[in-house]
Order: sequence, then structure tokens, then C-alpha cells
Amino acid sequence: MRRTLIAGNWKMNLNRAQAIELARSIAGGLRENSSVEVAVFPPAVYLDAVIAAHPGLTVGAQNVSENGDGAFTGEISCAMLRDLGAVAVILGHSERRTLMGESSQQVNRKTIAALNAGLTPIVCVGELLEQRQAGLTDEVVLEQCRTSLAGLATEQMERTVIAYEPVWAIGTGHVATPAQAEQVHAAIRQWLAGAFSPSTAARIRILYGGSVKPDNAAELLSQENIDGALVGGASLKADSFLGIVRAAEPQAVA
Ligand code: PGA
Repeated sequence: MRRTLIAGNWKMNLNRAQAIELARSIAGGLRENSSVEVAVFPPAVYLDAVIAAHPGLTVGAQNVSENGDGAFTGEISCAMLRDLGAVAVILGHSERRTLMGESSQQVNRKTIAALNAGLTPIVCVGELLEQRQAGLTDEVVLEQCRTSLAGLATEQMERTVIAYEPVWAIGTGHVATPAQAEQVHAAIRQWLAGAFSPSTAARIRILYGGSVKPDNAAELLSQENIDGALVGGASLKADSFLGIVRAAEPQAVA
């Protein structure tokens, strides 16, 4: 069965002391033996400090280079993230796709690099408002999946997490309705069943992201194909992030 994952994307926020403090409050608020898996994604420069201060917390990065170590000024390699103790990486977030021009082909190369390094990739997909209004949601999202996940072996796909994040819902307060989100999650799982196999599709976690808050999390997470949440704004305060973790607990599978 799929273990519920609640992931906090801190984006480019907080200073070093605040990052350590937030991690402390989150780590302190987690229940032992919870059926929910929790991970946080601080800015890269604070990974070391957060991991050192809270070794029990699952920590990942918000991006990584597709290249191995070498002459890539300003970049951070998968090996460097592993060296720090990071275990996961968010890839193809819509802010990187839109603001940094990251393509699905690039996301694909990063996904393969992350898998080869033993990192868990969380690969983000999602449509723009205009695309949804034009009835293109499934087409856009499935094309992002096809290209971003191209060439993965079944074993690699099973180590990958997908995050469906409608761009119009990110940071806007306009959360997708549970039915809207579930429809896309089901389409992604159906695509996985065809591209890999039904049993592989049944094992892969598909997170929802976009204005998830403590008061809307339970209903979203109760949907059959929603296996967790990728949380931005509400992950910056321990109370609201832990509120989402709590909301996930009743429906989580141990
Ligand atoms: P939000 O961000 O929760 O602030 O909408 C989600 C995300 O960007 O992953």
C-alpha cells in the first residue's frame, strides 16, 4: 500500500536560525510510529544545518543539477546532496518550469541523475489556468509525465513520487476541489498502469500540491488516488504544517 507523504517545500524563505527552529518544532511535533511520512525541503544553503540539528527528520532539496561534479558554476550535484544527508529532491516545480525555463526533458535528466544517486525524486507536473479553461488539463499533465519520466525502469519508477500541482492553485489560496484533483490523479495513475503495469501504478505515490491547508487537507487526502501533499506556504509555520500531518493521519495506511 502507499504510505501517505506530507512534504514541506520551504522555497526561498527563512534565515538559518529560522530554518533550524522550524525543523525543531516540526520534529518535536511528530508522533512516534505515525503512519504518515513527513519530509521537509529547506533552501539548499540550510540543508546542512537542518540535517545536523535534526538527524531524525527526512530532508530533501528543492532542485539539483543533472550533471555530475565538474565545471558547472553555481550548481549543486546529486552527490553533494547525498553527502549532506539529503534523501530526496523536488524536481520540475512549476516555479522552476516557468521562472527558470526548465523543460520536461531537463526534468527527465535530473530525475535519472537523482535516481542513479539514490535520491527520491518528487517530480512535479501541473497545468496553467488557461490550459484548464481550454480543456487541456489531462493532455498537458500526461505529456509532462511522459517526457519527465521517459526511460525510467520499473524499479526506478517505483522509487519516484509524482506531485500534481495545478499552477493556478499554487500560492493563490484557490485550492483544487477534491474532485478536480482526484480526476487528474486518477488519469496519472491510469497512464502509469499503461506505461508500466497496474501493480507498479498501484504502488506509486501521487501527491497533490497547491494551497493545501490544515482545513482542506483531510478532504483532499481522503480521495482514492491522492497519497499525500506537497505544501508550500502552510509548511512555513510548524502549527499549520503539523495540522496537515494530523489531518493525514486518520486516512493514512500504516
Ligand atoms: P502552496 O505551494 O502550498 O503555497 O500553494 C505549493 C507548492 O508550490 O509546492
